[in-house]
Amino acid sequence: MSKICVVGTGYVGLVTGTCFADLGNEVTCLDVDNERIQKLINGEMPIYEPGLEQLVLQNTRSGRLTFTTDYPKALQNAEYAFIAVGTPSGTDGEADLQYVRSAAEAIADNVDWPIIVINKSTVPVGTGDWVSEVISQRRSGHPLQFNVVSNPEFLREGSAISDFMNPDRVVLGSLQKEAAEKVSSLYQPLRCTIMITDLRTAEMIKYASNAFLATRISFINEIANICESLGADVNEVARGMGYDKRIGPSFLDAGLGWGGSCFPKDVKALEHMAVLHGTQPQLLQAVMEINRNQRRRVVMKLRKALGSLNEKTIGVLGLAFKPNTDDIRESPALEIIHLLQNEGAHIKAYDPQAMTNASKVLPKVKLCETAYQVAEDADALLLATHWNEFKQLDFSRIFKIMRQPVLLDGRNLWDAEPLRALGFKYIGVGRAVNGTFHEEE
Ligand SMILES: NC(=O)c1ccc[n+]([C@@H]2O[C@H](COP(=O)([O-])OP(=O)(O)OC[C@H]3O[C@@H](n4cnc5c(N)ncnc54)[C@H](O)[C@@H]3O)[C@@H](O)[C@H]2O)c1
Repeated sequence: MSKICVVGTGYVGLVTGTCFADLGNEVTCLDVDNERIQKLINGEMPIYEPGLEQLVLQNTRSGRLTFTTDYPKALQNAEYAFIAVGTPSGTDGEADLQYVRSAAEAIADNVDWPIIVINKSTVPVGTGDWVSEVISQRRSGHPLQFNVVSNPEFLREGSAISDFMNPDRVVLGSLQKEAAEKVSSLYQPLRCTIMITDLRTAEMIKYASNAFLATRISFINEIANICESLGADVNEVARGMGYDKRIGPSFLDAGLGWGGSCFPKDVKALEHMAVLHGTQPQLLQAVMEINRNQRRRVVMKLRKALGSLNEKTIGVLGLAFKPNTDDIRESPALEIIHLLQNEGAHIKAYDPQAMTNASKVLPKVKLCETAYQVAEDADALLLATHWNEFKQLDFSRIFKIMRQPVLLDGRNLWDAEPLRALGFKYIGVGRAVNGTFHEEE
């Protein structure tokens, strides 16, 4: 059993702390957000993540997991301090490291014994060295014995616990192999591949992985757009590609483009790092541009189907950036809503989990309680997030209550033919059949 402090109780920190507690360690999770910590102390989850509530309750009851806003208390006797605070985009696309800095300083101020500081936040290459400097400077009068290890996180919101417990790999980077090996012992119970490398390489692995996944999505979206012009079906194209073992099927779903709290800021930060150091990241720039266009294409398609969007009512199904999360950061749905509102459209929307978050940032959107309320009197219905509950809607009912029967399936979730048979104008992403896309459109 090890004594661990996790700084930051967001999607990553809370899952990390809870899972390490579940693996038998004594974990204190700390956050500067008092409301968040009070909720956790009361057994309420500040975020929606499947399975998290039960695991938190189990481990708090066992006494292995506690929550606090008090740094000295959280760090008391800790052998490991994980930094899992946010690293949002700064004004120029760079990662904003102010929260990492204050976490590092607080660790420096509150520890007087050897400690390993582990960066779980996604941070620019070189940040591990910078964190070392921040701590050393803070303790210049009375040096602290510490090591910094980079341990980028690869979990996905919506399946975070299972991703943490069954990782494809754990990456650890440090200039001190012994420190990385100690951190590796925390992951031993998971019996997974543990890769130990140097600090900067570990930091780069995270950015390169996210940029690669974003690239795959932008790639298939570009292919989808070409399919629309040439009369092919991108779903079938992706299926045919995915059988190739060199390619594989994942991250080949055409749609509205990538969003969320990670890909947009991480691709931007990687581009920023590259430019700052004199390289030309042309592919990354194209990947971001394709993603931006994917949102704009929705507006173009709706304009083509409805004419002017001024005073039209568009219903939006799904607001979270992907299913099984309440996270709306950089959600395609939100960006598209803003574009549609700029054209004068009225928006109604519903999401199974993201309504509370959405209500804070979408004051002019009529938030509804069901998909059917959204469809009522709508001139078009846009499927923005492919939640399971949107798979099997009663489309006969929807056909009757919509003002105009236009469906824009932004995630290629629905079968086009039965919907067309019901009388809908169905518009997908890159889904022509035998060259009929233009006729259908
Ligand atoms: N969300 C994901 O799916 C995911 C996946 C992999 C990696 N990451 C990376 O992990 C990091 C955290 O992401 P997240 O989504 O969990 O962020 P988040 O915004 O959900 O949570 C961050 C938390 O840190 C707290 N915080 C900020 N400054 C603090 C400080 N000085 N001391 C204590 N707490 C502080 C905030 O109050 C907040 O609760 C980011 O770098 C992100 O890029 C996220």
